[in-house]
Amino acid sequence: MFVWSRLSSSQWTDSWGERFSGHSGAVITLIPGRKTVRVEVYCAEKKEALAIQQQFGGTVRSVRARNWAVHRVAVPPPVVVRDALLVCSDSDKKKRASLAKLHPRRSVISIPPDMAFGTGHHATTASVLRLLVDFSKSRKGKAWTLCDLGTGSGVLAIAAAKLGATDIFGCDFDPHAVRVALHNVRRNRVRDVRIEEADVLHWKSGRRYDCVAANLFSDVLIAAFPKIARLTKPGGTVLVSGILKSQAAECLRAGEEAGLKFDTIITRGKWVTARGGRE
Ligand SMILES: C[S@@+](CC[C@H](N)C(=O)[O-])C[C@H]1O[C@@H](n2cnc3c(N)ncnc32)[C@H](O)[C@@H]1O
Repeated sequence: MFVWSRLSSSQWTDSWGERFSGHSGAVITLIPGRKTVRVEVYCAEKKEALAIQQQFGGTVRSVRARNWAVHRVAVPPPVVVRDALLVCSDSDKKKRASLAKLHPRRSVISIPPDMAFGTGHHATTASVLRLLVDFSKSRKGKAWTLCDLGTGSGVLAIAAAKLGATDIFGCDFDPHAVRVALHNVRRNRVRDVRIEEADVLHWKSGRRYDCVAANLFSDVLIAAFPKIARLTKPGGTVLVSGILKSQAAECLRAGEEAGLKFDTIITRGKWVTARGGRE
């Protein structure tokens, strides 16, 4: 058996957890007293561990075999979103084509492993994707626009394009996420998607959107709500997530104070997602 490992800043804990969510051999350990986590993935085959190393750096070493079944590494299963979307980690064209054949009514989105949040597996992303599908259906073929604040891998922006949005803007303050999102936009051959590096809290937009998605943390949302409200067309929809259950009341109150009204609140595990509107 082989183990791939590397140290990482603890701010990436959720991203690593999400990235290896389908791997039964993945272990994330907080290092006491430091803002660091150790990420390890136990692999039956050396080539598996080396493939992870090639992607993410770190080291590979052999370990004495224990319970092989426990450490079997699996590719995370695709995420199915209602009858409209399927998000997979395959970049291979043949695999994507066979998934498309199995799901003829769904658009296939490919988000291969990388260090940007948004494979579709995390509760926050999955909930926003569902609400985005519902929003697209409510448009009944009428053109719509999306602003995706904190785009990460670009998954929401790409989903919007697949769902028929005609003008999509996504931004992230992490330059690596922006590079990954741009790759994913090209890989998924979607048009009308613009991705830029920008800090939501300092960026100024001169325009409004039919739908604004913001899967950010509560503190960023609280500070950004006045801007989110200004970005939303009157009668438009706001989808917010990344809110911890314990912070939801305070966070959504800040949204209402900024002029938004929330009509749907979804709780999955410790995460809250909400749909709101601007009158
Ligand atoms: C939880 S992830 C969401 C990714 C993707 N939109 C999704 O739904 O899966 C949050 C993203 O927001 C970005 N972010 C956090 N604060 C930000 C800010 N102030 N301005 C721009 N991006 C920010 C992070 O870099 C990260 O990529």
